[in-house]
Amino acid sequence: MTFPESETRADVVRLADPDDVVPEDSVVRDNLRGTPPRLPPWLGYDAVGSRFFEQITELPTYYLTRVERGLLERHASEIAEALGGGRIAELGSGSAKKTRLLLENCVRLRPTTYLPIDVDESMLRSSAATLRSELDGLAVTGLWGRYEAGLEWLRTHPGEPLAVVFLGSSFGNATREERDGLIGEIARCLRPGESFLVSADLDKGREALETCYNDPPGHSAFADFRLNYLTRLNDRYGADFVLDDFVPKAWYNAEASTVEGCLHARAERTVHVPGLDLTLHLPRGRFLNVGYSVKFDEQGLADEVGAHGFTPRARWVDSEAGYGLFLFRRDQS
Ligand SMILES: C[S@@+](CC[C@H](N)C(=O)[O-])C[C@H]1O[C@@H](n2cnc3c(N)ncnc32)[C@H](O)[C@@H]1O
Repeated sequence: MTFPESETRADVVRLADPDDVVPEDSVVRDNLRGTPPRLPPWLGYDAVGSRFFEQITELPTYYLTRVERGLLERHASEIAEALGGGRIAELGSGSAKKTRLLLENCVRLRPTTYLPIDVDESMLRSSAATLRSELDGLAVTGLWGRYEAGLEWLRTHPGEPLAVVFLGSSFGNATREERDGLIGEIARCLRPGESFLVSADLDKGREALETCYNDPPGHSAFADFRLNYLTRLNDRYGADFVLDDFVPKAWYNAEASTVEGCLHARAERTVHVPGLDLTLHLPRGRFLNVGYSVKFDEQGLADEVGAHGFTPRARWVDSEAGYGLFLFRRDQS
């Protein structure tokens, strides 16, 4: 599959129009027809969704960002050294505030080019501009598009040694099948000896996870973020979702070790999605899945990534919080 570089601006390459209708619309349609209906994470991240996500990271109960930042504050110099690579690509870079801690250390060691990949153009442009202006010696080329398009670009633009990083435990937002596809694509971008750094949240059971993934009293960041998926469907496909008809709530699925962010129908509803030529009949209580977060165990993660030709090289884990950064090295193929 090739993705056209349809436009190149100063420091952001538009890989392919993220609003292109084919084949992504068929992905959304298939997901909505599934049981339960599920919406892909990239749909939730327009400028508004990214703002809501930033508000989630500031919730007192959302430990993931805080713990990851703490790990990077303590270990960034060691991680930068172990990572190697004159080019650091990041999947789902978002605001890149935490990545900055790593990049500061990378530029001290070697000239570094940062290649953030994200679907949200506004966040990508502002984080790229901020990093470029504030970190001397850092070159930045943003890659605007989906993970697969960014990885394809990296594969077809070889250069200095490359490291791929995937922070924010976003790797866990993909299903097992999607993760296998992604690791395979990452493996194809990397030469033997190059690095893949991924953060992962470890399973810690229902109470801690449901507290983390629901709004504490007086806050609405998760609710706003989840309901924004319906706004996106209304705007993009002319759907007639009424936001008040749905209750946002996350629950822990112990069998699958996942937290599922859901929108439950308050009453029986029929929703039309003309842009996808789809009508959804939702009985009372039926939910749409708008967030999927896998909780790993370390061995499972090592096996999953290892199956695609990677060897674990180092780990930085906050064992109290049950969250870690895991470094893998690409094997000889
Ligand atoms: C959970 S946020 C994490 C942001 C940041 N890495 C952090 O740790 O705070 C996920 C980010 O990935 C981006 N994203 C989600 N799915 C994507 C996809 N399929 N391709 C490219 N970017 C994606 C979103 O726009 C968002 O910025």
